[in-house]
Amino acid sequence: MVQTLQKAVSEAAKLLSGAGVTGARRDAALLMANILESDVGILYLEPDRSLTNAQYSSFQRAIERRALREPISHILGHREFWSLDFLVGPDVLDPRPDSETLIETVLMAQKSGQEITSILDLGVGSGCLLLSLLSEIENARGTGVDQSQAAIEIAIQNARRLGLEDRTKFQHGNWCDGIGETFDLVISNPPYIPASDIEGLQPEVKDFEPLSALIGGEDGLDCYRDIVSSVKPRMNSNSLIVFEVGAGQAQQVSDLLENSGFSDVSRHKDLAEIERCVSAFS
Ligand SMILES: C[S@@+](CC[C@H](N)C(=O)[O-])C[C@H]1O[C@@H](n2cnc3c(N)ncnc32)[C@H](O)[C@@H]1O
Repeated sequence: MVQTLQKAVSEAAKLLSGAGVTGARRDAALLMANILESDVGILYLEPDRSLTNAQYSSFQRAIERRALREPISHILGHREFWSLDFLVGPDVLDPRPDSETLIETVLMAQKSGQEITSILDLGVGSGCLLLSLLSEIENARGTGVDQSQAAIEIAIQNARRLGLEDRTKFQHGNWCDGIGETFDLVISNPPYIPASDIEGLQPEVKDFEPLSALIGGEDGLDCYRDIVSSVKPRMNSNSLIVFEVGAGQAQQVSDLLENSGFSDVSRHKDLAEIERCVSAFS
């Protein structure tokens, strides 16, 4: 039977909703638009358009994956962050809108006179933080470190796609190990979820995102301790460090920085008024 756009999307939205997907209709529309190589406006412009058998089968396959709670970004293969398009997949953390708070924090510091010509991103993942900053700070160069070689490969592809490969370097390894240079800015969104919280997360996260990008030890703070205790020799004098933190962790991460001799420790809220970043100076 010939399927129209509108009918296929409505049926898929019902199926996704029954599978517990929030925003089921939006996701069904996005997956349809992707198959038609169009944008979601096509659903309103041509609701009665007939799908070919091949288009309908591809749409059904995509909906089956989403019904198993695979993240929509994995099915589409990319995700928008800071208005840029990033390749993503099972080897990297899906960039989160909350992480744009870190970009805003850095750009505000730069606007207030902080010089930033070199950036070190510890736990670079897809490269969303480092590459977004490099797209804004035109004379800066950046180094991205990750313990996952698969993540590094994706970050390299994203740097190429965004035309930033000449200003980036990527290194496979453990935080600051083996890094000889010093930087004006260090950023990090390290794994920060306490190990015992993983079971309570949405299937999209716990079943499809790399656990090594999520778990920050028993209390979620292990990576902050490791980085704070080793990063100072990699920072120029009066250079800036900005961490993303999990909800409720800002006080503890501020204490860690203060107790290690960092100055002007400040906290920054995201759009939901949650303290999302902690910054300090070396
Ligand atoms: C929460 S993800 C953040 C990814 C990306 N920066 C973002 O904001 O979307 C944390 C990243 O840290 C990396 N990571 C975890 N432990 C690490 C370590 N000891 N050394 C280097 N990278 C590490 C993980 O592989 C992961 O890519």
